[in-house]
Amino acid sequence: MKKKFYITTPIYYVNDRPHIGHSYTTLVADVLARYYREKLGKDNVFFLTGTDEHGTKVAQSAEQSGLSPQQFCDQTAVLFKKAWQSLNISNDDFIRTTEERHIKAVQKIFNQLKEAKTPKGNPAIYQDTYQGLYCTGCEKFMTEKELVDGKCPDHQKKPEKLSEKNWFFRLSDYLDDLKKRIESNEFEILPEGRKNETLGLIEQGVADFSISRETVTWGVELPFDKTQKSYVWVDALSNYITAIGYPDDKEKFNKWWPADLHLMAQDILKFHALYWPALLMALDLPLPKREFIHGFFTIDGKKMSKSLGNIITPEELVKKYGTDGVRYLLLSQFSFGQEADIKAELFDERYNADLANGIGNLVSRTANMFENYLDGKAPPSRLKFDIDINEIDDLIEDYNFSDALRKVNENIEFGNKIIESDKPWLLYKNGKIDLLIKTLGEVRGILLKIADQLKAILPNTSEKITDIFDSKKKIEKPKEPLFKRV
Ligand code: MSP
Repeated sequence: MKKKFYITTPIYYVNDRPHIGHSYTTLVADVLARYYREKLGKDNVFFLTGTDEHGTKVAQSAEQSGLSPQQFCDQTAVLFKKAWQSLNISNDDFIRTTEERHIKAVQKIFNQLKEAKTPKGNPAIYQDTYQGLYCTGCEKFMTEKELVDGKCPDHQKKPEKLSEKNWFFRLSDYLDDLKKRIESNEFEILPEGRKNETLGLIEQGVADFSISRETVTWGVELPFDKTQKSYVWVDALSNYITAIGYPDDKEKFNKWWPADLHLMAQDILKFHALYWPALLMALDLPLPKREFIHGFFTIDGKKMSKSLGNIITPEELVKKYGTDGVRYLLLSQFSFGQEADIKAELFDERYNADLANGIGNLVSRTANMFENYLDGKAPPSRLKFDIDINEIDDLIEDYNFSDALRKVNENIEFGNKIIESDKPWLLYKNGKIDLLIKTLGEVRGILLKIADQLKAILPNTSEKITDIFDSKKKIEKPKEPLFKRV
């Protein structure tokens, strides 16, 4: 059994506005953080998210908006914080890479890398001249092979030809050791397919990568070479340790590191499954225990992007469906590991069927019958069939959120079936009060179980149900429906 749980999301680029792609990863992290707070106690869980604010891409977006890079970052970081509030995200910290605490720590990390030796006895970093094709959209060098018609397939732009003096990280010297740690699951990459993909990359041979840039102005300055700024990915990946106090706050750092789970989508697998562990090895630190790589979703078959104008923001969804409505719609749509296409027009249907007519209706009709037939008095809850709450626990621990919600829906259906077959209105009419108490008691018991099952996933709904059916109070039909029909 775990004693502590440190979970992270990627830190998001501030040149984009928060959309439901970012929201999805953050939401999953939130469910897991809430779940483990219940299991391990709230002081034993640390949930980190934040924003990635350096690099050419961000500097260019700032210029287009007529702002200084820092002003631009300040504005967008707020948008991410607001988006997470609107989704009731319970992060323990929010790191911004332009914060002093982070910049200072990154500089110390660079000094350590400068001193480090690889397992083969070579210096971990070295200077070289790099010539290559750089895609600013990806913030990475690309090979000719990766291009389609000479363009980056993700950004539809020709990469720039760059030739500059950089510091390089000797990744090649770490790959044998890394491979062993991945194969043995000491460093676990999930799902299995992503682990194999990573091993495949190692098999093909991965080149050393540049960790500094000469022509970039918006970045962390290398402490030992003022002509260079940190490559934005080294700066960004370091957030996972700088936020928990590395290297100065040893007590805090040792409490949380290694991370129990880094979450992300496959677009940034290579950085997290190859670069990050190798950098940690150079720093002589343990590797994260696990990375889970989920699918990238598209909207009506297309990638979400500013230029296509098909970005869906969490706020617009929250306005329509409420916080828990959005949490439900995003988490129930598809299996966590898989790629999927979102059909926004199905949201209404799903919301009405599962939330307004499903759980919302069961809660209000049951509370209504308590109020009308039993003067709001709660009988001891009894169950005909036991609902196994551990079933949901196992699904959450397996990151199977869509099936967890499916199970909850089955339990709601079960509650409705009891009402349909026992017909409490007839029991009341015929004066069969004992039977009436038994039936409504059962349904109340089911609803309280459902509230338990939903605690981490739909926290507000869970709390409302527990409150409505609290035995210390009079049970009354809620004034507002839990989920208004749309
Ligand atoms: N800044 C880097 C990450 C640095 S982490 C040390 C970055 N940022 S990003 O803003 O582009 O965020 C990428 C991540 O956002 C994905 O890995 C995924 O977690 C999430 N998603 C963004 N769009 C998404 C979808 N359309 N679908 C699913 N997840 C998506 O990369």
